[in-house]
Amino acid sequence: MNNPNLRAVVTGTGGYLPERVLTNDDLSKMVDTSDAWIYPRTGIRSRRIAGADENVSDMAAAASRQAMERAGVRPEEIDLLVLATITPDTPLPAASCLVQDKLGLVNATCFDIVAACSGFIYALDVARQYVLSGAARKVLVAGSEKMSAITDWTDRTTCILFGDGAGAVVVERSEGGTQNGILSTATGTDGSLAPLLYVPAGGSARPTTAETLAAREGFVRMDGHTIFKYAVRNMAGVTAKAVADAGLKPSDVDWFVPHQANLRIIQAVAKTMDVPMERVVTNIETTGNTTAASIPLALHAAVADGRIRDGDNVVFGSFGAGLTWGAAVVRWGK
Ligand code: COA
Repeated sequence: MNNPNLRAVVTGTGGYLPERVLTNDDLSKMVDTSDAWIYPRTGIRSRRIAGADENVSDMAAAASRQAMERAGVRPEEIDLLVLATITPDTPLPAASCLVQDKLGLVNATCFDIVAACSGFIYALDVARQYVLSGAARKVLVAGSEKMSAITDWTDRTTCILFGDGAGAVVVERSEGGTQNGILSTATGTDGSLAPLLYVPAGGSARPTTAETLAAREGFVRMDGHTIFKYAVRNMAGVTAKAVADAGLKPSDVDWFVPHQANLRIIQAVAKTMDVPMERVVTNIETTGNTTAASIPLALHAAVADGRIRDGDNVVFGSFGAGLTWGAAVVRWGK
């Protein structure tokens, strides 16, 4: 950390979305809802759903492969993989271990992070600390979710929101004096708000039984109304902190890439932060909320289509179950 030229630089992005599209009209045939109800309240029109044999490790591997290709990094050069997910292929082992095997990351230490929709930010923060401390040189950070597996498709208050997918970035150590890289990270947690968004059964406190299955306790439960309020407050607060810690003003933000939970939440946060919607990257209309995958997926889309360019100040902000929240500022480019 003593070297002023030392930076943790984002050098490549990748994204993966499953083929199957589930529209609001499709949902209206499954539960008592409609596009006219869902779209104005959430900004979501459709989401992608993974196939039965398409798991979190497969989607994470696809997004990570693309991120490594775009960074020009070989699998054996990666020394750390941090995978953010709340829907690992199996409870044990960590899904990141399966990704390591799929990609041949033979020199990487691999672990998962469980921080729900803030998972990607938490993982990026870990990658940054490893790189700046000298513990790692080339890190893969991925977010991958198969939310369809823990969604109650009979509950119209939750099933309209979520989708599947994966995104990834490569973070590398640079000592060459670049001004680019991760300028700041900020995170927070409030476990007293855990009951706002949780899965009641399937963990060690309440293992799966015939009873929990019948009560549909293996699926997400949510108090959407209360979450909405905390989401705006905490996401705006932590993002403003990261922007200030990076030495920037709101007018310096070229792109805000928020967690994609609800377009109205995104609009409220952008307004609080004084960032116009023209500078906000959204893909929620066609992805829904992909939890830990949402920020890297939106980021990859905006990098791939040329919106985000070298030298741009790119800001990430998130909130999620826990509750957790986080933000990061990256000056784009190698
Ligand atoms: N279709 C039709 N009606 C629905 C519905 C649906 N899919 N879901 C709920 N309703 C009904 C409710 O039953 C309720 O009816 P009632 O007034 O007769 O009881 C009414 O619509 C209003 O429900 P409410 O939950 O108050 O709606 P809302 O305006 O808060 O919008 C969310 C619901 C979920 C869209 C919104 O609260 C939200 O997005 N919250 C944040 C959730 C989130 O981001 N979670 C992820 C965190 S990372």
